[in-house]
Amino acid sequence: MSGNVRPESMTRITTAQLANAFIDQQVAEIRAQVGDKKVLLALSGGVDSSVVAALLIKAIGKQLVCVHVNHGLMRKGESEQVIEVFGNELDANLIYVDATDRFLDLLAGVSDPEKKRKIIGGEFIKVFDEEASKLQGISFLAQGTIYPDILESHGVKAHHNVGGLPEDMQFELVEPVKLLYKDEVRVVGEALGLPHAMVYRQPFPGPGLGVRCLGAITRDRLHALREADAILREEFDKNGLAGKVWQYFIAVPDFKSVGVRDDKRYEGWPAIIRAVNTTDAMSATIEEIPYALLHHITDRITHEVEGINRVLLDLTPKPIGTIEWE
Ligand code: XMP
Repeated sequence: MSGNVRPESMTRITTAQLANAFIDQQVAEIRAQVGDKKVLLALSGGVDSSVVAALLIKAIGKQLVCVHVNHGLMRKGESEQVIEVFGNELDANLIYVDATDRFLDLLAGVSDPEKKRKIIGGEFIKVFDEEASKLQGISFLAQGTIYPDILESHGVKAHHNVGGLPEDMQFELVEPVKLLYKDEVRVVGEALGLPHAMVYRQPFPGPGLGVRCLGAITRDRLHALREADAILREEFDKNGLAGKVWQYFIAVPDFKSVGVRDDKRYEGWPAIIRAVNTTDAMSATIEEIPYALLHHITDRITHEVEGINRVLLDLTPKPIGTIEWE
């Protein structure tokens, strides 16, 4: 798709039929642009890169090389889903890199949030670069740029996104969804047959659980966070909140409090629930969660997650609290 301005005449993609027409047009354009050359894509598992991957697989099949870097800060089951959907079901050319140890070793003892972000972003580029330089004959780089990224060059993705490319890597870009809004990307993703959970995945920061495992990350606390977050997501799914709440997650701070379990002193971390609604992430309101459900979630997290002995609810809107804790 050429040009960075969405023509006024462009119809908003709201139906499967419109999505299919868009897909057919993009498949033709991608084939014309790429020819028989190879395209590289950093596949995070987020909505945009997943839709771009599915579109490119349809257009050029194995000429697309997807690299999924697991930085060890993904939510429970996410890397597995990327492997299942793209590696197995769509039979993509997928390189999976488990770089968990590299990231966690570098992050050990680092408590400053901006330093943590820099380490994660910098290491991500390094790992991606290493994988890319092992490959022969790549001419294009695909990216999941969407229209809001172009409109708000000061927006979330511009300064938040993990990744980016080393300056000496010279590729021509393939950005098939760059004129689409998020809701349109989702309609296209569904038309391409991607799983609903992947297409309607809630926003997830590039540095992942790294900014929710507050302070210096340790493996045991990161594990507790991931398990508690999985319980929250499961309960929101089961109770009809998943489609209603914009973003919901757990943060785990790096301090413990005293508790009691099986008549013994049981020190543990608190799990903090944050569930917010927003349209643009610039301001956010607090979703009201039924008390009975909060009790149930508390009961599950404190009984099922090793190391957590309290559950707290964050009632702070943005402003004054940002959505993430770090
Ligand atoms: P805040 O915390 O600034 O978050 O209110 C607004 C939105 O941005 C997401 N966020 C990030 N996304 N990298 C990202 O890709 C980041 O470092 C980052 N920090 C915050 C946050 O999840 C929310 O949706």
